[in-house]
Amino acid sequence: AQAYAAGLMGQAPAIPFRIDALEARAEAAMGPAAFGYLRSAGSETTASANRAALDAMRLVPRMLRDVGERRLSCELFGRILPAPLLLAPIGVQELAHPEADLATARAAASRGIPMVFSNQASVAMEPCAAAMGDAPRWFQLYWTRSDALAESLVRRAEAAGCDAIVVTLDTTLLGWRPVDLDNGFLPFLKGQGIAQYVSDPVFRAMLARPPEEDMLAAAQLFTRLYSDPSLDWLRLRRIREWTRLPVVLKGIQHPADAARAADEGWDGIVVSNHGGRQVDGAVGAAGQLAACVDAVAGRARVLFDSGIRGGADVVKALALGADAVLLGRPYIWGLAAAGEQGVAAVIDNVIAELDLTLGLIGCDDVASLGWESLG
Ligand code: FNR
Repeated sequence: AQAYAAGLMGQAPAIPFRIDALEARAEAAMGPAAFGYLRSAGSETTASANRAALDAMRLVPRMLRDVGERRLSCELFGRILPAPLLLAPIGVQELAHPEADLATARAAASRGIPMVFSNQASVAMEPCAAAMGDAPRWFQLYWTRSDALAESLVRRAEAAGCDAIVVTLDTTLLGWRPVDLDNGFLPFLKGQGIAQYVSDPVFRAMLARPPEEDMLAAAQLFTRLYSDPSLDWLRLRRIREWTRLPVVLKGIQHPADAARAADEGWDGIVVSNHGGRQVDGAVGAAGQLAACVDAVAGRARVLFDSGIRGGADVVKALALGADAVLLGRPYIWGLAAAGEQGVAAVIDNVIAELDLTLGLIGCDDVASLGWESLG
């Protein structure tokens, strides 16, 4: 209503509502190399498959079902959230905006939507947590080659009031990214996106000189330690000795992996292909969701990301059985376009579209969405 009223006065909205216009705004703000990194996804076949899988699902509206009051809230790991929405962990946010993760943290806190702090954040988790008060946040871990370092990151996350740990499994190696290769662009080598390490006592103890005096050595150590491809199900269990927080496995795509995660008692999974950034030619993530939900059979929470661009996509993911959805690139476009206000506006728009779509398909509660809403 505000946007329509502003339109009457001849004012443009703070950020575009159309998602392609928002992305174009971010591109103009960021410049080609940084925007290339944000978009980068091989030849984009997987990113396209993510959209195709969501577009192939169709909602079937029902009429006359009294949707005057609609409930969007959901429970995750003992917290009631205002909507089944989280901000996905996204690294190197300084590429989008100088306030980076701090702007995102403030926007997330203002809406009560959990921010998942990235392992590759531009601002360490402690100042972000401090900016969020009691608002919900989670921490995402890339398991480094040093278990002591992984443990330190997890313990810091618990101390910073995180409600859950997300272990991202799909990035034990960095995917083939021709756009970044052509641009010669890897931000970590410049010391960008390694704030969690630079502030970590275990990491600092591994360096001859403090990162403040020799950032290049810190960046080089980071690239040596970064994510361990020899990680397996057995080693993953060590995390239970480091924390009592719920542990969510991100990057699950095969129903057999979803079943194993539930068999082993992991608390949740994120069905995700990292927004198509890792395996070019991989299957569209939304196409895997229903089979993974079946395999888990209620034994763990199921989250979803990769391709969510608006509220109708959220409705589809929930109808396929997800408990909640992680929003990825769109909030970074908002961050690039207008900082904290941009992130908040993107969250508001997704939730507003979710609410409208829910009502218009004849459903009054996100918890009761199911197959009957899909064509
Ligand atoms: C990511 N993603 C990601 N995931 C993660 O677990 N840790 C991270 O540090 C990052 N960093 C990151 C940077 C950038 C620039 C992007 C675009 C993505 C993946 C992210 O959490 C999520 O899975 C995807 O963004 C979902 O895909 P869409 O919806 O953005 O296409």
